Amino acid sequence: MKHPFLIVLGIVSIVLISCQNKNNTKTVENILPKDHHSFAEPQIARVSHLDLSLNVDFDNKILSGVVTFQILKSPDANEIILDTDGLKIEKVMSDDMDLSYKLGERDKIKGRPLIIDLPEAVNKISIYYQTSPGAKAVQWLSPEQTAQKEDPFPFTQSQAILARSWIPCQDSPGIRFTYNAEVTVPIGFMALMSAENPQEIDADGTYNFKMPQPIPSYLMALTVGNIEFKSLGKRTGVYAEPVMLDKCHYEFSEMEQMLISAEELYGPYAWGRYDVIVLPPSFPFGGMENPRLTFATPTIIAGDRSLTSLIAHELAHSWSGNLVTNSTWDDFWLNEGFTVYFEQRIMEAVYGREYSEMLALLSFQGLLEEIVEINAKNAEDTKLKLNLEGRDPDEGMSAIAYDKGYLFLRKVEETIGRDKFDNFLKSYFNENAFHVMDTKQFLSLLNAVLNEEEKGEIRIDDWVYASGLPDNHPVITSEKFINVDAEMKKWIEGATLASIDSQNWSTHEWIHFIHSLPEDINKEKVSELDEEFKFTQSGNCEILAAWFQVTIRSEYEIADPAVEDFLVNVGRRKFLTPTYKALIERDSTKEKARKIYSKARANYHSVSTNTMDELLDWKL
Ligand code: BES
Ligand code: ZN
Repeated sequence: MKHPFLIVLGIVSIVLISCQNKNNTKTVENILPKDHHSFAEPQIARVSHLDLSLNVDFDNKILSGVVTFQILKSPDANEIILDTDGLKIEKVMSDDMDLSYKLGERDKIKGRPLIIDLPEAVNKISIYYQTSPGAKAVQWLSPEQTAQKEDPFPFTQSQAILARSWIPCQDSPGIRFTYNAEVTVPIGFMALMSAENPQEIDADGTYNFKMPQPIPSYLMALTVGNIEFKSLGKRTGVYAEPVMLDKCHYEFSEMEQMLISAEELYGPYAWGRYDVIVLPPSFPFGGMENPRLTFATPTIIAGDRSLTSLIAHELAHSWSGNLVTNSTWDDFWLNEGFTVYFEQRIMEAVYGREYSEMLALLSFQGLLEEIVEINAKNAEDTKLKLNLEGRDPDEGMSAIAYDKGYLFLRKVEETIGRDKFDNFLKSYFNENAFHVMDTKQFLSLLNAVLNEEEKGEIRIDDWVYASGLPDNHPVITSEKFINVDAEMKKWIEGATLASIDSQNWSTHEWIHFIHSLPEDINKEKVSELDEEFKFTQSGNCEILAAWFQVTIRSEYEIADPAVEDFLVNVGRRKFLTPTYKALIERDSTKEKARKIYSKARANYHSVSTNTMDELLDWKL
C-alpha cells in the first residue's frame, strides 16, 4: 500500500473486522478481498444487519417495501455503496432525514451501484424500493405452473448475484449480515424464507422472520404459495404444495438420519432446524442451500428415494458454503467441491460405500466429458481457482468446481488417511465458521498439516492452478457398474434383452447402462430397449434425461412427445442444457428445439432462459 489514504483504510478495515470477529485473531488475512462482481466497498462501509419489510403483490408481480441497514463504517466514510439490478428506488432515509443518493451507470453483469451519502452520525439507513416484474431472481409462477394448479407461487433464487434484483444489498459472498423480515402476502398463503419459518398459515397473511446468524446475500430467499408442512424428525421437515406433500414426505424419510450422520462427521449443525421445500418444476436448480430451508426441485421426487443425494448435498452446504463461505465466485470450488466431498461422506454413512461409489463414478464420468468440452473453449476454466472478472459468475458453475474439487479432496484423504483428514475438516469448519475462505488461505491451512512426502504425492498446484485432471487422480471403481457393463456386452454380442440380469438394478445402474449404450445405436435397437424397459415412461427424471440423449440422437421419434412434455414442464437447467444441445446437433431436429422452446420459455426462470437463449441463439 503506497498511498497514505489506502494505509488508513487498511488499518480501519482491520479495526472494523476485529470489532466484528471478537474471538478471531487472524485479522489481517481476513481483510475482505476485492470482489469483481460487486460494487460494494466494504472496507469503507458495510452492512451488518438488515430489517426487511416487504409486501408481495401477485397481480403486479412486484415486491415493495423498505429495507433498513445497520452499517459498520470507517471513521472517514462518507458514503456506502450497494448493488442493485432493475430496482426502483423511491427514497433513502435515516430516521426522519432524507439522504441523498444516486444510481450509477448500469454494468451488463453487475447492474447499478446505489451510492448513498452518509452524514457523520448516520449508521442506519432505510431504502424504500420496489422490484420490477422482470426481477432476475424472482419467478412469478402462475397457477398452471404449479402442481396444484390453483394458486400463484413466486420464489426467489439469489445465488450467485441475483439478490440485488430483489433487495438493494452488498451482494458479495464475503459480506455477512443478520436479518429480520416482515412479509405481507395475500390471505391464505404461506411465506417462507431462509430463516426461522412458520409451519402454519397465518390468518392475516403477515409473517415475521428472524435469521440471527450472519449470512451472505446470496443466501437470502423468499417463497410464497399454497404450502403445507409435514414433520420428518426432531429437527427436520418438508414443505410442499398439498398434492405433493405425502410423496415428498415419503421420499425424504431419511433426512433426519442424514443430519445426524453429517454432525457425526464434521460437528454440530449450526442453524437450528433443517427443512426442505419442494418447489414447482420450473425451479432452475436441483437444490439451493438457503439456510434452514433448502429449496428443491420436484424432479428428485422419484417415488423410490433414489435421488436423495441431492438433499445430502444441500444439507452439507450448511457447513461448506453457509458456515465457511467462498470469498468470491473465483473460489466457488471451495463451496461446491467441499460440499460434494461432504455429500459423498453422508451418502456413504447412510447407504454404504458401494452405493456412494456408484454416485462418485457417475459424476467422474460426467467430469471427464466436461473437461474435454471446457478445455476446447477455454482451458483456464478447468482450473479449480477461476478468474471470472468481467464475466457472469454463472460461467464458473461447471463440473470443475464440483467434481474436480471433490476428487482433489479425495486425493488428500487417500494420501493422508481418513482420520487425519476428518480431523482437519472438523477443525476447518469449526475455526472458520461464519468467515470467508479463499483458495490461498485454504491451501496454507492444508499445507500446515501435510508432510513433505504427502505434498509430493498430492501435487497441490497441479490440482488447483493447472487445467485438466492431474494423472494422480483417485480411481473410483464399482462392482455394480462392472456387472452392468458385462450385461451390456452380452446384449451387444447378440443376447436378448430379456436375458439381461437387471432385476435388482438401482436407478444409478440404469443410468450407467443408458450412458454406456453405443453412440451410434440405431433407432431399431432403441425401440427394442424401450419396449423391454419402458424408459420413455419412466417417472425418474434422471433416467428420462439420460434416455432422451439416446432417443434424440437416434431419431427415435416415438419419444418426441415425452421429450416435449419434459422440456415444457421442467425448468431445471441441468436437464434442459443437454436435451436442447442434443436437439440442435442435427438440422432435422433443430427446428423442433426452437418450436419447443417458444412454448416452454415462459415456464423457465431467468437462470435457465439466460443459458438457453444463448444456446439456441434466441432473439427476443
Ligand atoms: N448452490 C448450488 C446451486 C447454485 C450454484 C446456484 C451456483 C447458483 C449458482 C447448489 O448447492 C447445487 O450445487 N445444486 C446442484 C445439486 C447438486 C446435487 C450438485 C444442482 O442444482 O444441480
Ligand atoms: Zn452445491
